[in-house]
Formats: sequence, C-alpha cells, structure tokens
Amino acid sequence: MSIKEKIYLYPVWLRIWHAINAIGILILIVSGLNLQFSKGSLSFINFESAINMHNVAGVIVSINYLLFFFGNMFLGNKKYYRIKPKGCTKRIVKQAKYYAFGMFTGQKTPFPISEKRKFNPLQKYSYLLIMYIFVPVIIITGLALLFPETIIESVYSVSGISLTALTHAATGFILSIFLLIHIYVSTIGKSPINNFKSIVTGWHY
Ligand code: HEM
Repeated sequence: MSIKEKIYLYPVWLRIWHAINAIGILILIVSGLNLQFSKGSLSFINFESAINMHNVAGVIVSINYLLFFFGNMFLGNKKYYRIKPKGCTKRIVKQAKYYAFGMFTGQKTPFPISEKRKFNPLQKYSYLLIMYIFVPVIIITGLALLFPETIIESVYSVSGISLTALTHAATGFILSIFLLIHIYVSTIGKSPINNFKSIVTGWHY
C-alpha cells in the first residue's frame, strides 16, 4: 500500500472528543433505560445509582460537547460539514441508492473519501442534524431537568417539567437509533473494522 493512500482525517482533539462522547452516551443510554423502565425487565441498576450515573455522564458529555463545537469551528474540521444546497437532494439519493443496492452488487462508492471529502452526503447531513440539533436539545433539556426550578410551570396548562422530560426521552430514543445506524454504517468500508481503526488512530487507509 502506498503512502499516498493514507490520509490523516481525525486529529487528536476530535478523537478525544469522540471517545468521551461515545462512552458517555452509552452510559447515558443504559442508565436512561433503567430510569425510564425502572419497574420493568430493563432495570438492572438500582434507581439511585442509575440517577447518579446519568447525572455525572450527562454533565461530562455536555462539557465535552464544547470541545466538539469550538474544535469544529476553530481547528479546521468545519470544512467537512459545509452545506452545499445545489444538488444536495440528488447527492443524498445517490448515496442512499448505493447503501440500499449498489454496495450489494459490487458498485464503487459514489463519494470516495479524500482529503477534501471526509463524509459522504448522508453521513454529513446526519452528523449535522445530530450534532447541531439533537445533541444540543438533549443537553439543554437534561440541564433543565437537573435544575427544574429553571423550567416554566406550564405551557397551555401542560406541565413544563413533563414536556421537558418527554422531549428529553424522545431525543434520547432518536440518538439511540442514530447510534445503531452509525455503528452499522461505520462497518461499511474497505474492511468492517477499517473505520473503527481510523477513529482510534486518526488515519484513513
Ligand atoms: C460505541 C459508540 C460509537 C462508535 C463505535 C462510533 C464509531 C465511529 C467511527 C468508526 C467514526 C469514523 C467514521 C466516520 O467518520 O463516520 C465515527 C465518527 C463520528 N462519530 Fe461516532 N461512534 C460512536 C458513537 C458516536 C456518538 C454517540 C456520536 C454522536 C452523538 C457520534 C458522532 C460521530 C461524529 C459526528 C463523527 C464524525 C467526526 C468528524 O470526523 O468530524 N459517534 N464514529
């Protein structure tokens, strides 16, 4: 394999953010399921411990988010997230077709990874949605539930705390589904473990 094929895509700060985020979110999902179904079969951690785990991991993931936000803005990673509206739907459909049919019939990936393009269009827009909408929503609602005195009492006679808790749990569900898809999509590459190696070493082969 030539040196030319090796691209440095994940700088140290991004890998540190990603590792803390991945472990933190896994802990949040497990403890969150325990809290949500505290009387059912998904409850295998004692309620008090699940609350403590959830609070500590939530605060760590929230602080760590600042590393992603400012790192992305100032350390050169934002170029990979730039939105190009012209032809955007066409590119997304092309990539979706590849995931649905092309890759099973030996077609070449329509958007190969390069120094200029780290993500295919579907990855780019799903990361944008997750990192700039759903993660901020779960952080804001989580912090509000940690300090419930900051939540307004009612919205059209519905309890503000109930609405915040519902938004928090629904967003948690969406993030859990994202994580399953994210891990599956990460296995699509030159080999099933190639992308996992890249997010650990920084290098894409
Ligand atoms: C066990 C958990 C996880 C694993 C194994 C994992 C795996 C990976 C892998 C292999 C990559 C590199 C491939 C790529 O660039 O798409 C990656 C990148 C990424 N992951 Fe994850 N991930 C996990 C959790 C998460 C979570 C919870 C989030 C967000 C809530 C997330 C967001 C991202 C983002 C935004 C990138 C691209 C970062 C960049 O290069 O700018 N990941 N992940």
